[in-house]
Amino acid sequence: MLRPLLALAALGLAATPALAADGEQLFNMQCKMCHAGGPMGPSLVGVAGAKIAAKPGFNYSPALKAKEGTWTDANLDAFLKAPTQFAPGTRMMISVPSEESRQAVIAYLKTLK
Ligand code: HEC
Repeated sequence: MLRPLLALAALGLAATPALAADGEQLFNMQCKMCHAGGPMGPSLVGVAGAKIAAKPGFNYSPALKAKEGTWTDANLDAFLKAPTQFAPGTRMMISVPSEESRQAVIAYLKTLK
């Protein structure tokens, strides 16, 4: 996992107006394998602004289900930065350490409608 993470950090550093496009690349490398609508993770279509842990048909952890509120930018950022701190007991373990990368992937999530 180290190599992709380093590549992503580099991606994030290349500050660019095409933030969502960077986010899409990151998403395809780091997220899609679990978030393409299969049993590995909930679909993320429409997740920005949606209620946390509310996709019908996905079996969320009690930890994430217990979270109140919606996926605001701040909540998405906190979750992606440290999922197990945001929701101790969550089944999503992967994090996005680079702030630039988080901003890019959040910008991309907002385009998924
Ligand atoms: C190894 C599989 C896996 C990968 C890779 C993964 N996720 Fe997840 N993700 C999950 C699982 C499982 C959940 C549900 C967690 C729970 O129920 O505690 C989740 C939940 C989420 C949620 C909350 C969804 C909701 O409906 O409330 C978001 C947002 C999210 N992931 C974003 C991402 C992003 C962005 C990436 C890439 C940086 C990513 N995930 C990579 C497995 C994964």
